[in-house]
Amino acid sequence: MNSPVYRVRHPLPPAHWPTREDAARARWFSPIRIGRQLTAAERTWVPAMVPWRATDDGFVTPEVLAWYARFAEGQPGVLVVEATGIRDVASGPLLRIGDDRFIPGLQTLVETVRERSRGRTRLFIQILDFVTVRRRPEPERFFGRYLEITDSLRAQLALWLDDRRWRDRSESDVREFLLGADRVTIETVLTDRELEALDYGYRERVWDVHLPHIRDLPRVLPGLFAEAARRAREAGFDGVELHYAHAYTMASFLSRLNARTDGYGGSREHRVRLPLEVLAAVRARVGDDYVVGTRYLGDEVIEDGSDLDDAIWFGVRFAAASVDYLSVSKGGRFEDAKQPKIGEAVYPYTGASGYECMPTVLSDARGPFGRNVPLAAAIRGAIRDAGLETPVVTSGGIATFDQAEGILERGEADCVAAARQTLADPDWFRKIRLGYGELVRRCEFTNYCEGLDQRHKQVTCKLWDRKFEPGDPAVRLANDGRRRLSAPPWSPPGEAGAGAPAG
Ligand SMILES: Cc1cc2nc3c(=O)[nH]c(=O)nc-3n(C[C@H](O)[C@H](O)[C@H](O)COP(=O)(O)O)c2cc1C
Ligand code: SF4
Repeated sequence: MNSPVYRVRHPLPPAHWPTREDAARARWFSPIRIGRQLTAAERTWVPAMVPWRATDDGFVTPEVLAWYARFAEGQPGVLVVEATGIRDVASGPLLRIGDDRFIPGLQTLVETVRERSRGRTRLFIQILDFVTVRRRPEPERFFGRYLEITDSLRAQLALWLDDRRWRDRSESDVREFLLGADRVTIETVLTDRELEALDYGYRERVWDVHLPHIRDLPRVLPGLFAEAARRAREAGFDGVELHYAHAYTMASFLSRLNARTDGYGGSREHRVRLPLEVLAAVRARVGDDYVVGTRYLGDEVIEDGSDLDDAIWFGVRFAAASVDYLSVSKGGRFEDAKQPKIGEAVYPYTGASGYECMPTVLSDARGPFGRNVPLAAAIRGAIRDAGLETPVVTSGGIATFDQAEGILERGEADCVAAARQTLADPDWFRKIRLGYGELVRRCEFTNYCEGLDQRHKQVTCKLWDRKFEPGDPAVRLANDGRRRLSAPPWSPPGEAGAGAPAG
């Protein structure tokens, strides 16, 4: 797949904002049932966004609470908490739900959102598993320590250097030689995966079944997801979202690249098997009345990866297996990511598939706005043709009322989500609903926030993070001391302030 060139700068789509009366009649602000018992007051939706604000042990912090409190004040129909790890292993400042000790913090998060949205927002939590990805190493460390010196590597050296003695040379001789070797030699004697580990950092695949912990994924994941979902329910969340999208474990099981030969890879039936088994285990643990949704890819957008045909087929199976909603994303894979700098990890939003996940105004002729809607529309159509009513959520470059309303009117999706526009203005749904659309602070879609995410820095928006008076005690600052962590508060004219947000 050739890397597309993004040279066309697109203006933001014109915005026409409805009056309060028109908004009250709008589809976007009409209720929707999700699952057997839950109703969301409106079809506005904030998809998961990792803000890098948890403790290094994965606990909820005051900064995490401030992040979700601020979104809750905009009163979206649904707010999805960031990708949260289901294992009890260290993973940096990402939220975790892999043990009962995480429940109290998550409970506080739930209470905060209930209070700040005045009970209007339904709160789900996205739960995920991922396999190991290491930082790109210094060549000295790679050749000095990480690279395994095997007989087959020695044989390659002997062949390439036309000198049989390399078959018996000591490990330290081989390491020393490789460290000083030219690039052609390195590329010739290392395997593709060893070369990748040198140039990009070591990265596991779900089809590395020679590794026992990878071979065992189908055995352990249903239980881990089910327990995480049980904790989510105990903490008071309205539902869980199984993260089957982007670069992570479950999306990789669904991928056409998944070459496992143990019944969990290869054909579509086998690739969807573990995701369905996880869904069944979660359902059995949390019961039929609890919302269990999934986020997955309408298209991987990588060479030889799964495409919309696969996604339609998977979507019908998920719906038939009683998933309560399907949130369709696109791309965000490791396979086409750019080479990271030494000491950094590969980031799955730097290649063409990453572009498709979070498109910017610098685009191709199609532009970034509503670019992923056709995927959701096709999946929804197939689900309806199968006689199923499962709601479908779309996202990607949606930033005006007219876009959202048009999508719903044309039956392309049932809920319309916005991540970056909601980061730019957490109040935007409420502003539109109350007839203050002209006050919406519009996202510029240039991905400053994504750059922060890439560097694992606390995520903020460039449109508001410098707007504060130094020393203002009401404003909580980022670790770098230069950015406010939450958008400035807003209340409708005439309404008493909703209470200064916690940051
Ligand atoms: C800072 C940031 C963090 C994100 N984290 C997640 C995540 O944890 N899980 C997920 O499924 N998507 C994540 N996304 C992707 C968004 O949910 C969304 O799909 C994407 O930004 C496209 O929607 P938009 O154009 O409305 O921003 C993230 C996006 C951003 C900007
Ligand atoms: S930083 Fe840029 S892309 Fe991100 S939310 Fe703000 S305006 Fe939008």
